[in-house]
Amino acid sequence: MPFSFDAGFPTTRLRRLRQHPLVRRFSQTVTLSPDKWILPLFVKDGAESVPIASMPGHRQLTLTDFRTEVKELKDAGVGGIMIFGIPNAKDAVGSGAMNEEGIVPRAVKTAKDAVGDDLLVVTDICFCEYTDHGHCGILKERGGRWEVDNDETLEIVAFQALVHARAGADMVAPSGMIDGMIGAIRKALDENDYTDLPIMSYAAKYASAFYGPFRDAAESAPKFGDRRGYQMDPAADPAQALREVALDLREGADMIMVKPALPYLDILSQVKQTFPGVPLAAYHVSGEFSMIKAAAAAGWIDEKRIVLESLNSIARAGAPIILTYFAKEAAAWL
Ligand code: PBG
Repeated sequence: MPFSFDAGFPTTRLRRLRQHPLVRRFSQTVTLSPDKWILPLFVKDGAESVPIASMPGHRQLTLTDFRTEVKELKDAGVGGIMIFGIPNAKDAVGSGAMNEEGIVPRAVKTAKDAVGDDLLVVTDICFCEYTDHGHCGILKERGGRWEVDNDETLEIVAFQALVHARAGADMVAPSGMIDGMIGAIRKALDENDYTDLPIMSYAAKYASAFYGPFRDAAESAPKFGDRRGYQMDPAADPAQALREVALDLREGADMIMVKPALPYLDILSQVKQTFPGVPLAAYHVSGEFSMIKAAAAAGWIDEKRIVLESLNSIARAGAPIILTYFAKEAAAWL
């Protein structure tokens, strides 16, 4: 029975666990592990890297600067990267994503060449960066409205995953919230002898305004409409997130992600409790990053403490694996 061993005041004084810094440290069970953090990186062809105005400190990287960056990350003790590619050309069906010589396959090879197995190289599987309309798949008109054609998109999603696998990615991470995407990718990978390549599913991904700065970074804002037809409704019953996770696990997902992080810690915690033993990740997204940066630049908050407290909260809620734009800085702070 919980707490039955507490004698009560004055025999019990919980302050005793807090007064001395050493005792405080020994009482901690939540730990931050930069070797389980993943830094999202944006890569683009070009002569020079381009700073991302809404994400201070981050750039759309040329392959040359990307190579330098992954080496620095390895030295900083960060565990992995998530690659987002900005293609040279976009079209209605995102064909750039299927190009074996595209920016992402080249970045994967560059990372593996630079740091080998010292860094987990994950690729984002989605089409919003590759389509001229900015939606996450092939569009179809139905009843006067445009929507992402789920089943048609499944085929190209599987193909894109295969392209990344062939380039040498350690893991693929589909983020499009297309029903059946995990199963389609698993099947394609298995049929092509990639039975051991794991999939991290953006399983519970909400239609969030916190993705704003990312869409500047990845040049992936939808040209019309929004993503509410496929990403989760923030006001949906939380159990819907559990259904998403259960479906993805049945289709073969190896790791599960909840996204965004801080506004959805309740979801994270429920997933953790409902699916013990499944490696759980949280994506501390661009808007969460930029809000902290903006407030820190204004001198309103202590950036370092706010960031570490945020990462602690995410770990405490159940995700030791954290995708965060603070990965490099925070690893240095620890
Ligand atoms: C692509 C994708 C998005 C993010 C990750 N993958 C944008 C979106 O869904 O609109 C957002 C990440 C962030 O905000 O940091 N579908």
